[in-house]
Amino acid sequence: MRRTPLLLLFIGLVFVTTANAQGIIPNPKKQELRPGVFQLMNGTVLTYATADCKEAAVLLRQQIQMYQGISLVLQEKPSPNTPFIRLEQGVSKKHAERYRINITPDQVLIQGASKAGLINGISSFVQMANLKSEGLAEAHSVRIDDEPAFAWRGMHLDVCRHFFSKDEVKRYIDYLALYKMNVFHWHLTDDQGWRIEIKKYPLLTGVGGYRKETIVGRQSDTARFDGIRYGGFYTQDEVREVVAYAASRNITVVPEIEMPGHALAALAAYPAFSCNGGPIEVGTKWGVFDDVYCPGKDSTFLFLQDILDEVCSLFPSTYIHIGGDECVKNRWKQCARCQARMKAQGLKNEEELQSYFVQRIERYLNGKGRQMIGWDEILEGGLAPNAAVMSWRGTSGGIAAAKLKHKVIMTPGKPCYFDHYQDRDRLKEPLAIGGFNPLDSVYSYHPLPKELSTKEQRYILGAQGNVWTEYMPDFKEVEYMSLPRMAALSEVLWTPDKKKNYGDFLVRLRYHTVLLDRIGAMYAKHFLQK
Ligand code: ACM
Ligand code: ZN
Repeated sequence: MRRTPLLLLFIGLVFVTTANAQGIIPNPKKQELRPGVFQLMNGTVLTYATADCKEAAVLLRQQIQMYQGISLVLQEKPSPNTPFIRLEQGVSKKHAERYRINITPDQVLIQGASKAGLINGISSFVQMANLKSEGLAEAHSVRIDDEPAFAWRGMHLDVCRHFFSKDEVKRYIDYLALYKMNVFHWHLTDDQGWRIEIKKYPLLTGVGGYRKETIVGRQSDTARFDGIRYGGFYTQDEVREVVAYAASRNITVVPEIEMPGHALAALAAYPAFSCNGGPIEVGTKWGVFDDVYCPGKDSTFLFLQDILDEVCSLFPSTYIHIGGDECVKNRWKQCARCQARMKAQGLKNEEELQSYFVQRIERYLNGKGRQMIGWDEILEGGLAPNAAVMSWRGTSGGIAAAKLKHKVIMTPGKPCYFDHYQDRDRLKEPLAIGGFNPLDSVYSYHPLPKELSTKEQRYILGAQGNVWTEYMPDFKEVEYMSLPRMAALSEVLWTPDKKKNYGDFLVRLRYHTVLLDRIGAMYAKHFLQK
């Protein structure tokens, strides 16, 4: 009698250890452990059912090579009497991102409702393959049936304040893929740099891609500049490469082309599209600036439409982000053309002029079959009829937009700004812009505001983590600020509430350090000190 509880305790411990060894983040909707393990080693066969499955198989092989250092062999058919991995379609298509995994000692079967589902299954499987020794990994027998709670699981990256190479951007996309994030919001233009080649306007990158120097330290404490020219940009070929790399990992790249504010870099190159004609310099410090696009001139819109033509040809994304945030209106107040536009259009104030600007751009994008998305300032002066709203100044913009039946992405500063500190003691941390968004506050975030009815909540497509890089000159700092907060956000966006548990997440995250260390990622380690 006395031995039974001890035995149960022992079985419980083994179960907990192996369950944790699964280590899947975000935690799947349903999983059931079984006895036994599947062994992966160099030469383990990977088979596939269709051409789509073959593409996914190529990805799985690449991922197992990257995270476990094991070379799988791609074959159309398994070899007799040999354990193998198989990818096939065959789950009901109700949810395109759904996947199932069935692991036994003889076979790993990954089934997806679509290619997206298969790719999600691959991310889980890669996380389950525990490296036992060099060249040998084991995946515990398990049945998983899984699909995401939210459709928009986003991560943003500002490449304007600091520039990151194409290969660094691809590494960032690797992290998104590991955590099944499916939107990469690429912030490509801002005051301090224009980062995307536009063939029709070569000065955008030739002039706007470079600033003469950069402010040193925290802006509020210093007015010292480093005197070093800084910049860079992506060619259109590089952009295509990044978009394809992301697409093969079930990630849509949403480009952001900022307007009407945050436009110094563009206006340094083409000052004719400002109110007073310049001259204007590419920004060398952070914040907001008076010089913005002039909506009094039709030529400004033609210029932006040309740019959007090229952008749309590079990015298949339904959504095109046009910024819309933090537009200072001082120049508009003094500009005869802007005032004439307001009079002609019957606009009462400069907020309505901004709304006119955004609506005109929306009409153009809609005409090209695209949807416009912007920061929550696009609500001011009247929301464009079809626009989606990214709520960053808290959640009130998102709530207002959802009530107006507009699609919303939640990205409130608290806790979705990953440029904020991760430790209460700032002296222990690299210099950051401010704030405090530790891992547990990201984990406990709920994107659906209580202020909305169930019906209104359907307009909330999901949420996003934002990585503004004023204080991240190196990609290693981007990694440190993104990881593991991105992992916590992935669980917020994927896992049903009843399956969420912060303690359990931390145990799985500890296991993830093996994967992150293997690829040399720089992640914040506060959770290991608990
Ligand atoms: C923003 O952080 N200005 C959207
Ligand atoms: Zn003007």
